[in-house]
Amino acid sequence: MNICVIGTGYVGLVTGAVFADLGNDVICVDNDKEKIELLNKGIMPIYEPGLKEIVQNNVEDRRLTFTTDINKGVRISEIIFICVGTPAKNNGETDISYIEEAAKGIGKALNEYKIIVNKSTVPIGTGDFVREIIEKNKEKDINFDVVSNPEFLREGSAIQDTLAPERIVIGAPTKEVAMKLLELYATLGRPMLITDIYSAEMIKYASNTFLAMKISFINKIANICESTGANISDVTKGIGYDSRIGSSFLNAGLGFGGSCFPKDIKSFLHTAKKFGHDFNLLNSVIEIDNNRATHFMNIIREKIGGFKGKTIGILGLSFKPDTDDMRDAKSIEIIKMMLSEGAKIKAYDPVAIENAKKIIPNIEYAKNSYSAAYKADAIAIITEWREFKLLNMEKIKKEMKRPVIFDGRNIYDPEKMRKTGFEYYSIGRR
Ligand SMILES: NC(=O)c1ccc[n+]([C@@H]2O[C@H](COP(=O)([O-])OP(=O)(O)OC[C@H]3O[C@@H](n4cnc5c(N)ncnc54)[C@H](O)[C@@H]3O)[C@@H](O)[C@H]2O)c1
Repeated sequence: MNICVIGTGYVGLVTGAVFADLGNDVICVDNDKEKIELLNKGIMPIYEPGLKEIVQNNVEDRRLTFTTDINKGVRISEIIFICVGTPAKNNGETDISYIEEAAKGIGKALNEYKIIVNKSTVPIGTGDFVREIIEKNKEKDINFDVVSNPEFLREGSAIQDTLAPERIVIGAPTKEVAMKLLELYATLGRPMLITDIYSAEMIKYASNTFLAMKISFINKIANICESTGANISDVTKGIGYDSRIGSSFLNAGLGFGGSCFPKDIKSFLHTAKKFGHDFNLLNSVIEIDNNRATHFMNIIREKIGGFKGKTIGILGLSFKPDTDDMRDAKSIEIIKMMLSEGAKIKAYDPVAIENAKKIIPNIEYAKNSYSAAYKADAIAIITEWREFKLLNMEKIKKEMKRPVIFDGRNIYDPEKMRKTGFEYYSIGRR
């Protein structure tokens, strides 16, 4: 099939590369000229494991191309995927101006029947909005259909998630249109749900807010563990064995942050309100998450006796491991608080340093974990990168001024850490 993907970010680039890998001809469009120039030179604008290889292979096989020309992309394609950003406005409402811009471009380019598929996370009713914008902007009397196909990939495992999604949700106006998408996805052999557009749009928000709720739930339980002396790791195992609950997404830590959950919860709250519903449960999910960084700071401040004049080694900057995405990363909030209280920061992350420098320029960036530990009064683990789990802790200890570790992601065994000679503090455990 001839496919156009509009927006070459974390979702669009992966989607385009995977569709090409499945044998389709894919043209990826972005209005960011610099991004397209990089891609045309074979340089990935984002870090995602396996992305460079899959893009390279499909570019070499001429199934994958990049352009800034939306007109060209739309005209030569049967199916057009919209994968542009949908950030939150200050009042929590979703900014769908990028969607509007893309829909205008599609309308103007419409030269024959096409299916327009929205993959971006959008408020319920955006399918109707996209339809209206295309109708208003099309220059000829040409028919088209709009579909909602929300994306569930996770940064860090995006290629695998796209090749083997747990489910594919298709919100289509008719069975015939749904069949076309079914045909495209059939080779993946994964469960597919065909539904209406409103339900598909709702499924994405219901999923993300539910997952965020699990994280905030376990973080609140962790706080209570800290007060009572219970151990969150055992508590999590104990509840996770119950198949009605499940063990995934129950890791106590510094909270979610990231490019999706914070904005999606706010957006869903906004939509619920618009339709007359107060979804207060979600306000609590946000409130608990907002308190995570402060809670971590309180633990550190108390144990090291204040931040003034102290050097803190920060391990992990991205909002989660295996990505360079710094959007709403907990590291930003924590480092800014430490700086405001007089700390000196030496930070290390395996891939996010370049992105971090744009947001927090006034700190020292280390070339590895050991140099972040050099003469540090304490280390704070912010992101649970696998390489941090494999560090030579004896060597880390020798580098530090005082061997204290604050593990915001519970990646180490407390007993082992103490045996190695560290003062060790984690979340919800003694
Ligand atoms: N990142 C994730 O893990 C993830 C997962 C599932 C769903 N989503 C959703 O997918 C959507 C995209 O997210 P992302 O993380 O890929 O965003 P992103 O910011 O990484 O990428 C968006 C891209 O769209 C481009 N763009 C914006 N307007 C355009 C236009 N008019 N024409 C062409 N290109 C345009 C931007 O230049 C950018 O490259 C969002 O709605 C997000 O909520 C994201």
